[in-house]
Amino acid sequence: MLENKNIIITGAGSGIGRATSILAAGYGANVVCVDLNPCVEETVQEIKAGNGNAVAQIADVSREDDVQHYIQICIDTFGSLHGIYANAGVSGGGKPMLDLTVEDWHRTLSVNTLGVFLAVKHSVPHFTQAGAGAIVCTASVAGLRANAGGVDYSASKAGVISIAQTVAYQLHGTGIRINAICPGLIETGMTKPVFDSARQRGTENRIGQINPTKRFGQPHEIAEMACFLLSERASYVNGQAIPVDGGLSASHPWAFPRN
Ligand SMILES: NC(=O)c1ccc[n+]([C@@H]2O[C@H](COP(=O)([O-])OP(=O)(O)OC[C@H]3O[C@@H](n4cnc5c(N)ncnc54)[C@H](O)[C@@H]3O)[C@@H](O)[C@H]2O)c1
Repeated sequence: MLENKNIIITGAGSGIGRATSILAAGYGANVVCVDLNPCVEETVQEIKAGNGNAVAQIADVSREDDVQHYIQICIDTFGSLHGIYANAGVSGGGKPMLDLTVEDWHRTLSVNTLGVFLAVKHSVPHFTQAGAGAIVCTASVAGLRANAGGVDYSASKAGVISIAQTVAYQLHGTGIRINAICPGLIETGMTKPVFDSARQRGTENRIGQINPTKRFGQPHEIAEMACFLLSERASYVNGQAIPVDGGLSASHPWAFPRN
């Protein structure tokens, strides 16, 4: 599906970004795995162990010079850029609104929203030159409506959805597509505190019970959507915010009938 495509994936050291890097390499992509955390090296080792092609790059997605650098690494290593998955993000800690500081706000928005904008801004010239390119961002169901994160996190993800919608139109006629994935609750490093505290309380079996699938999601289920959107199979999918959430966001408030 991604044979000989040169792709950058951010947040590749853990969770969704790690699963997508491994899957994309399995589908034939050459992957630049970007993360702030050196654990991104383990992702690359796993890809290489499976005979895939990847390089690791330590970078802060909210720093413009780091973004320019990780894109240049892709060009220098693989010769061109076909797609980018701007996925790195932070939860912001889910603080109540009145406890949020200006610094908290800036940190969450810097990584989650500015980080996506910078990935778009600096990848687009390469795609424009080639006359094609695929941009995928990770938003969240928190960007669609309330109760899936703090106000900083939710606003940051609504911003990502808006980037996908507005950039799709600014790039009209260029051959470049951009889409945002809105995951529901996925078991990753980011949501570990939720799972750990539920396990401690013995309520783990209640996680995901308000979802029509009656479960939470796994990173590979988001990775499949990301690889599809990065590929030419998604050639007419553009400017969309696509929930991959087991159906969670499909409903108005509703209670399951008691058995
Ligand atoms: N897990 C969920 O339930 C869920 C739901 C909706 C959306 N998301 C989004 O999915 C994306 C991936 O998160 P995840 O769940 O895999 O979490 P994760 O914590 O397992 O992975 C996130 C990765 O991003 C990296 N990162 C954080 N800040 C960075 C920075 N400034 N520069 C470079 N890398 C940075 C981290 O080091 C980490 O490896 C995030 O954007 C998150 O908001 C997650």
